[in-house]
Amino acid sequence: MRKKLVAGNWKMHGCLAENDQLLADVVDRLTGLSSDQFAVCVPYPYLFSVQNTLKDTNIAWGAQNLSQFEKGAYTGEVSAAMLKDFGCRYVIVGHSERRTLFNESNVVVAEKYSAAQHAGIVPILCVGESLKQRDDGITETIIAEQLAEVIQRAGVESLDSAVVAYEPIWAIGTGKTATPQQAEDVHAFIRKEIAKQNSSVADNLTILYGGSVKASNALELFAMPDIDGGLIGGASLVADEFVAICRALVH
Ligand code: PGA
Repeated sequence: MRKKLVAGNWKMHGCLAENDQLLADVVDRLTGLSSDQFAVCVPYPYLFSVQNTLKDTNIAWGAQNLSQFEKGAYTGEVSAAMLKDFGCRYVIVGHSERRTLFNESNVVVAEKYSAAQHAGIVPILCVGESLKQRDDGITETIIAEQLAEVIQRAGVESLDSAVVAYEPIWAIGTGKTATPQQAEDVHAFIRKEIAKQNSSVADNLTILYGGSVKASNALELFAMPDIDGGLIGGASLVADEFVAICRALVH
């Protein structure tokens, strides 16, 4: 059975007081529901406090980015080992906001993916196309390229210790969700692409959908055969929404 996962991506939101309130609401309502299927990826400065809040709960935590370098003179960067120090189970790599706003190339994303795995952290590798790329009919080409760089660098078996998130850029934060069938088609493509190299890795890979997932559409998205959960942005900041999405996963 493939592992299912709902991971919140708080992005650059929150403060100590708000985070405490949000997590108190969420922890309380997810207690006893399921283990090993929920996570939140938080801004770096809150890792210490989130670790303390979540350590005896069924919610894992992680970060949203990391340095591709192990250590050294890289002012402002945070290494995989530092994230490990704070008990991070997951780290998002290659989010489209990092690819577009911070010019992260497929090569850099692949380096970050490897850095996470070397430290024993599960990378959540984001892939996805822009609206223009979709309209131009090159969605599959773009996603194949994003995957290829990682596979070339880390090997297809590395995906046994990773999660992939399909996040169409046009659906992120826009309120515009891919239809379950649109998402399913790309998830199935990702699995097929990986199966060309190793079918058991492909079968076991957890592939999340991200892009305006809400309480109102989670159930139908998660019902698709190749969608194993979600990477949740805006809705992960609202306790009612996030809890409902988590419940839709274990439904
Ligand atoms: P969204 O963001 O749920 O707010 O669309 C998803 C993401 O960027 O991971």
